[in-house]
Amino acid sequence: MVHTPVYLDNQSTTRVDPRVVEAMLPFFSECYGNAGSTSHPFGWDARDAVDQARAALANAINASEREIVFTSGATESNNLALRGIAHRARRKGNHLISVTTEHKAILDPLQRLGKNGLDVSLLEVADQSTSTPGQLDPQAVADAIRDDTLLVTVMLANNEMGVLQPLAEIGRICKQRGVLLHTDATQAVGKFPVDVDALQIDLMSFSAHKLYGPKGIGALYVRRRNPVVRLDPQVDGGGQEGGRRSGTLNVPGIVGLARAVELCQQEWEPEQERLGHLRDRLFARLAQEIDGVELNGPPLGPDRLAHNLNCSFAGVDGESLMMSMRDVAVSSGSACTSTDPAPSHVLLALGLSEDRTRASLRFGLGRFNQPEELDYAVEAVRESVHRLRALGSSASSSHTD
Ligand SMILES: Cc1ncc(COP(=O)(O)O)c(C=O)c1O
Repeated sequence: MVHTPVYLDNQSTTRVDPRVVEAMLPFFSECYGNAGSTSHPFGWDARDAVDQARAALANAINASEREIVFTSGATESNNLALRGIAHRARRKGNHLISVTTEHKAILDPLQRLGKNGLDVSLLEVADQSTSTPGQLDPQAVADAIRDDTLLVTVMLANNEMGVLQPLAEIGRICKQRGVLLHTDATQAVGKFPVDVDALQIDLMSFSAHKLYGPKGIGALYVRRRNPVVRLDPQVDGGGQEGGRRSGTLNVPGIVGLARAVELCQQEWEPEQERLGHLRDRLFARLAQEIDGVELNGPPLGPDRLAHNLNCSFAGVDGESLMMSMRDVAVSSGSACTSTDPAPSHVLLALGLSEDRTRASLRFGLGRFNQPEELDYAVEAVRESVHRLRALGSSASSSHTD
């Protein structure tokens, strides 16, 4: 018996793991002190919980405690990294490098910085017809770096097409050239081990709600050795987080983020293997049972997130397909900016036509999905695609009559 609606939108957000909820609960009603209160046990207990969470997070990404800055999520972390570096280091340089397929939480702050006089280069990725669709060529980064380049920002894993970028190689190039590297690792942390030293990352954004933790809490990793990275705070006030991000700490959220990351660390290997199998089977069935199904982004293999599938259904509008399957929650290619009806900038960057981009759906599998839910989704997609195609052909034939 399948419980509907079936949730297959785990790149948009995830259900909070009950073990995370359990860890958070005491911090709402029992241990509710302000972690900044130094004069009583309520504050001390909250501070202890924050310290423990900070240590667990630092350990998970091979950082030290002082390198973790808590924020409200990856959007804020990205803004703090980009604006913080650009404002702080303006005397050193004026140039930032990124990629056309980044999330809007990178592209929009970059656009604003560009309006304020910074020079921004956006690099292209390999298109769908190549052997590495969606990937950035590290050589393109090397070629784009100038004497006045302050920072390169490249996401580790893409939220729409799941492509993993060759960050170790990009990190090596940035280090060699003395340029800072930021990565938006929102879709990567918790899915596979991310080691900031091995990848030579200087700043890294991530968020709890993509990894079975609560919404409204995230972190920015800021390197403090080799080199010490300094940024201008974007939120001033009580001087929390070493003055880098003021505001009363969200203790339940911080505890939840750390618990969620710990669970991912313990379970990522079997979880990714299981989801990879389910995802491959989902695609095989869709491609077998429906005509005109094409994969968007990299092949289903090591260069792609195991729980991501993005494909197009020839001749069908993805938005209509989504709306006609009310009990299967997926998103169209333009998902993360669902208030914006424009076709996905990520799929367009792969060189796909606007029609194919508009005919695309993203299936994001997650920890709580069961095989029978995917079977249910296949039936629902098949039925809806056939219905929409039949409607389309009868509409066009009545039109020509
Ligand atoms: C790659 C990426 N970066 C940033 C964000 C924004 O994260 P948050 O919702 O934590 O602000 C998202 C999620 O929408 C994402 O997928």
